[in-house]
Amino acid sequence: MPHTPRESPACHTLRAGMVGLGMIFDETYRPFFEQMARCGLYDPEFGICDVRLGGVASLTGRRGDALRSAAASTLGDFGSFREPDAVGQLLASGVDFVCVATPDDRHFAVARAALAAGKHVLIEKPSVLSLAELDELARLAERAGVLAKVVYHKLLDPDHKKLRTLVADGELKHVNNGYCTLLEPKSISGSQFAEWIKGRNPGTYVAVHYIKLIDFTFGGRLTSVACTGQRGLVGPADGPTWDSTQLRLIYEYGDGREAAFDIHTSWVTPDNFPGYVEQEVQFRFDNGVWNAHSRKRGVECTVEGRTPIERKITMNNHYNGTFLEPWGERSQRGYGIEVLERFAREVATVEFGGPASARGERLQAARRLAYNDLSADRQTVAAVQAMEAILARHAAGESNCVVEVDRPQGGLVLLRPGDSRVEVLYEGKVAR
Ligand SMILES: NC(=O)c1ccc[n+]([C@@H]2O[C@H](COP(=O)([O-])OP(=O)(O)OC[C@H]3O[C@@H](n4cnc5c(N)ncnc54)[C@H](O)[C@@H]3O)[C@@H](O)[C@H]2O)c1
Repeated sequence: MPHTPRESPACHTLRAGMVGLGMIFDETYRPFFEQMARCGLYDPEFGICDVRLGGVASLTGRRGDALRSAAASTLGDFGSFREPDAVGQLLASGVDFVCVATPDDRHFAVARAALAAGKHVLIEKPSVLSLAELDELARLAERAGVLAKVVYHKLLDPDHKKLRTLVADGELKHVNNGYCTLLEPKSISGSQFAEWIKGRNPGTYVAVHYIKLIDFTFGGRLTSVACTGQRGLVGPADGPTWDSTQLRLIYEYGDGREAAFDIHTSWVTPDNFPGYVEQEVQFRFDNGVWNAHSRKRGVECTVEGRTPIERKITMNNHYNGTFLEPWGERSQRGYGIEVLERFAREVATVEFGGPASARGERLQAARRLAYNDLSADRQTVAAVQAMEAILARHAAGESNCVVEVDRPQGGLVLLRPGDSRVEVLYEGKVAR
């Protein structure tokens, strides 16, 4: 047989900009960029793509400079930009995409600047805090012909993929109701987030994982949002900062039947709790029940003097773990990192995955991916905006407001108990 030499694959480069160098950067972005620096990306569609960290923007430059000296051998050289106008300097430095991992109430401004500069954008959850902001980002992404995506890594958790597979295949039939809880340790509210926690709540920070899981897995139309919560530990008992929240969402499905979901969150769980974060869900169907519990996933490990503070007794080795591989290599891997790699692949496919004349089709295909595209985040953002509005009214002395979705008066309509006046939070239609 004649030997046909293989063509060597094309080589491309994508330079990433990073805004926000806090906890989630250390947990997932840093190992992702280190992995990319070592191996790059390969796909038959686009060949080899060298994805590298091009620059970082932080408030004081302290974290950026520290990262540059600590990770020179694993991340290579990159720019470190500080205020004033750290983001503007980063955007001008020639990056191709921008990852936004600032506190959630600062996502919008950074993402807007990046999209306006024509960069692809990846935003940590929750993407933004209002539908008006979401509309603005969608408009800018459309105008610039770039991707605007959000990270919900729980959708890549193998357990949640299995749940969705059983639902998609009709083995679990029609969800009727369910509950989810996610409890963060006190160290999160007390030290990690102390800088920005005033006026914030754990629902926006973590219930959003489950809002998205429910929305993406079961589909349907969000019809109403209710929420309450407790105060007094992180801030004053009559102030705007919340210790814990209890959210209720009602969905309606194509056949007219409804489901209710309760999502409880906290960031004041004792630090010596054995699990890293306590996560539990139960979904009830016409013909089945799905139960999942983070601490019952498999491992319990005690190390004298280390657990449960330095090392957790029950660990999630699926999200993001450091391992000694059987072939001797040290690695850090898991769905928290995989989700970032998927985004880089989507950008590389749009830019390099075929002829320039077909870029528009590749862009549209990437935008149809509902798990991460901002255009598919409408009901999740609607739930977050409603929850924030209800908690703000509560802090102002009016508890138990409810937000109804896509009513004749508007897309998000806040109703007060005992008061016939309504407040329209968003005029446009939520469902598309
Ligand atoms: N995917 C997940 O499960 C997950 C987990 C944790 C956090 N997050 C999300 O990631 C984001 C950041 O969370 P975190 O845990 O890393 O918080 P963090 O407080 O540890 O880090 C945020 C960092 O952003 C910096 N920052 C604030 N404003 C900035 C600005 N304008 N420009 C540049 N830097 C700025 C802060 O100084 C801080 O270093 C939040 O949106 C959060 O919801 C996601």
